[in-house]
Amino acid sequence: MTMNRLAGLIVLIGAIAAGGLFWLSTPRHTNSASLPAHSANAANGEILYHIGGCISCHRPAKESGADMSLPSGGAALVTPIGTLYPPNITPDAATGIGAWSDAAFVDAVQHGVAPDGQHLIPAFPYISYGHMKVEDVIDIRAYLMTLPAVASTRKEDDIPFSWLVRRGIGLWKILAVLPPKEADPARSQGWNRGAYLVNGPGHCAECHTPRNAFMAMDQAQAFAGGPHPEGRGVVPSLRDLIGRKKYKDIEELAAALKEGEEGFYSDLSKGGMAEVQLNIAKLPDADIHAIAEYLGSLK
Ligand code: HEC
Ligand code: HEC
Repeated sequence: MTMNRLAGLIVLIGAIAAGGLFWLSTPRHTNSASLPAHSANAANGEILYHIGGCISCHRPAKESGADMSLPSGGAALVTPIGTLYPPNITPDAATGIGAWSDAAFVDAVQHGVAPDGQHLIPAFPYISYGHMKVEDVIDIRAYLMTLPAVASTRKEDDIPFSWLVRRGIGLWKILAVLPPKEADPARSQGWNRGAYLVNGPGHCAECHTPRNAFMAMDQAQAFAGGPHPEGRGVVPSLRDLIGRKKYKDIEELAAALKEGEEGFYSDLSKGGMAEVQLNIAKLPDADIHAIAEYLGSLK
């Protein structure tokens, strides 16, 4: 083989590999027809909106003067790769999600794919939300649609080479997507509900599970704690909270989750946890207890 043909072959193989990567990194949309038939339940959606912590990221910037209780977006979310401004998810048709289909909403929340086909940055915890039942995601949209519409245009992210980063996320997803979590019939109903809330909408592992070299949650280290993903301080382990005498029993852990600082539990206040705790406090008591039951079982 001449050098020229060898070079040509290398270029050809390179092009096929690059094309393959390009193909692999291409977003996939959910087909509306593949969604289950479901009559949406906004009251269930409200519970999942709270444990999902949507308002914590999607609130407006203080200086905007907009209603801080509505997820009209715009407050800065600082991440190690740059600053994002989570967008408006109120039902405004022009600037929010009012005109979105259920399928488009499921694509964004569970697969990290925007309606224009771009990959969303995983500061939006869609890897965890991917564990939710699709019916629950549709219910969250139904709840959002009951909120007042706020007009608020998206503020562009401040991430260097954002387009390239978004493309690369297509490949990253292949490494980062977690296998589905199955219910454990040997455990109580409460434990299974807690496991669902913690691993799915609650996205607790996004902070409490350390990341591997690919920035994917390291399943072998689930809930072992580690550096804060937003780059400040550390996140504590959630393993063996009762054995380590952090809490006397499940009841006390449930009280800590419900009351936080108000109940003089001071270990749920720093690094974004205070907001998580306030969101948990909005849940029905049975759900808070279920979360405590599941956490208390982590070894
Ligand atoms: C930890 C922060 C965080 C939380 C919690 C969060 N989001 Fe987001 N969300 C983001 C960011 C950041 C983006 C934009 C990502 C990007 O630009 O790639 C986003 C984007 C979205 C989008 C796409 C909007 C668009 O116009 O493209 C939807 C829909 C959305 N979020 C819904 C939700 C819902 C529903 C919840 C709660 C269940 C939620 N988010 C919780 C940070 C968050
Ligand atoms: C934004 C990152 C973040 C998320 C998401 C998060 N946590 Fe935390 N969590 C922290 C940090 C940081 C602390 C330490 C707070 C402190 O020291 O005041 C903490 C502390 C805790 C503690 C106290 C641990 C102890 O040693 O007493 C519990 C319990 C806890 N988190 C449960 C949860 C649950 C349940 C969820 C999901 C619903 C969750 N966390 C989601 C960051 C997070």
